[in-house]
Amino acid sequence: MSAAPNLEAYWMPFTGNRYFKSHPRLLASASGMHFTTTTGEKILDGIAGLWCCNAGHCHPKIVEAIQAQAAKLDYATAFQMGHPDIFALAEKVTAMAPGNLDYAFFTNSGSESVDTALKIAIAYHRTRGDAGRTRLIGREKGYHGVGFGGISVGGMSPNRKMYSAVLLPGVDHLPHTHNIEHNAFSRGQPQWGAHLADELENIVALHDASTIAAVIVEPVAGSAGVIIPPVGYLERLREICTKHGILLIFDEVITAFGRLGGAFGADVLGVQPDMITTAKGLTSGAIPMGAVLADKDIYQTFMTGPDKAIELFHGYTYSGHPMAAAAGLAAMSVYEEEGLFQRVRELAPVFEDAVHSLKDARHVIDTRNLGLMGAIELETRPGAPTVRAIEAFTGCFDAGLLVRTTGDTIALSPPLIIEESHIDQIVTTIRKVLESIE
Ligand SMILES: Cc1ncc(COP(=O)(O)O)c(C=O)c1O
Repeated sequence: MSAAPNLEAYWMPFTGNRYFKSHPRLLASASGMHFTTTTGEKILDGIAGLWCCNAGHCHPKIVEAIQAQAAKLDYATAFQMGHPDIFALAEKVTAMAPGNLDYAFFTNSGSESVDTALKIAIAYHRTRGDAGRTRLIGREKGYHGVGFGGISVGGMSPNRKMYSAVLLPGVDHLPHTHNIEHNAFSRGQPQWGAHLADELENIVALHDASTIAAVIVEPVAGSAGVIIPPVGYLERLREICTKHGILLIFDEVITAFGRLGGAFGADVLGVQPDMITTAKGLTSGAIPMGAVLADKDIYQTFMTGPDKAIELFHGYTYSGHPMAAAAGLAAMSVYEEEGLFQRVRELAPVFEDAVHSLKDARHVIDTRNLGLMGAIELETRPGAPTVRAIEAFTGCFDAGLLVRTTGDTIALSPPLIIEESHIDQIVTTIRKVLESIE
């Protein structure tokens, strides 16, 4: 590939195309905690690529597994066929999952995992003779990818507004739990806000439980700016769902595979969902792959009728792709062998202190954290929402640090192999950049 490609033909996702193409930032290679740009700058990765490269970049074991699989089995259809590695990965991941999440349905992304889980929820109720349960409940500020299902239950208005007339019908939303007035500068789970889960009772009263299939929430909302669940909030949602026969889906596309210091956010937060959606860390970001983990009762509900019949009319050409399966198995081995989830638990207090050290930095109105997720929220520049954060993003990049911004919040989610010296570098850089921007 040429070092200076023509940038025009590529319509870039979630990007200001015109600004990017006049101010390109091109990555050429990566290793461990760093990217290297096409012009040779070394960039510390403060967000694990996009919340996904949990084992760090180009981990030799993952690279080797992908290379070997590419030469051995390039493709195997998942429809009425299989290959050994995908069964091994399903066994591995479900063994790591809490409770009876004993079955894995493979997809290629978080968005596909979400749409798959929503479809399974509706089909599950219908299969067990409760066909009226079709309503789906999401949450304001939720991000569940970009499929029609995901944007319908999602709660980020820029992602929805173009499509408002064609979103899924019968969807309602819980209120979000972000509240700076009550919870600013909370360390870990904030104390205020468990009662916001009770709004589910009002939604049930409005629509009747017999119309509701599932509630879907991120245990920690990532893309909206790292919104940590208040103490007792998820427990309350679980209670209300159980009371009314509603499935609870945790969207753990970000929080699974170590981000919070355990295999799943559900373990760390001590609340058992009926399904978990994953992607990202499932292969440490190296090959696209997602999975829905379903409770055994859900799976068994479908296992009726003639045994040669297809039980669920759903799947993707690339479900369980051999290269993704190899990457997933290698990622799970790396997490285990290198004790990366344990490492997160050990580093979390250091990371927490570092994130909160920015409390008195210029423009900062909130800092928050859980596991290796952190956020620094900036005061919005009057009349120019998001601009200050975008300037912080470009300032950090120019200073050799990749962060993510959403609204006026800087989000951090570094690879789980991060060292204390990198954590220092992250907060020192952010402080300096914030000092330099208006
Ligand atoms: C919670 C959550 N769900 C779904 C998605 C969508 O994943 P993908 O971009 O792989 O489709 C994301 C992506 O960030 C996410 O954070």
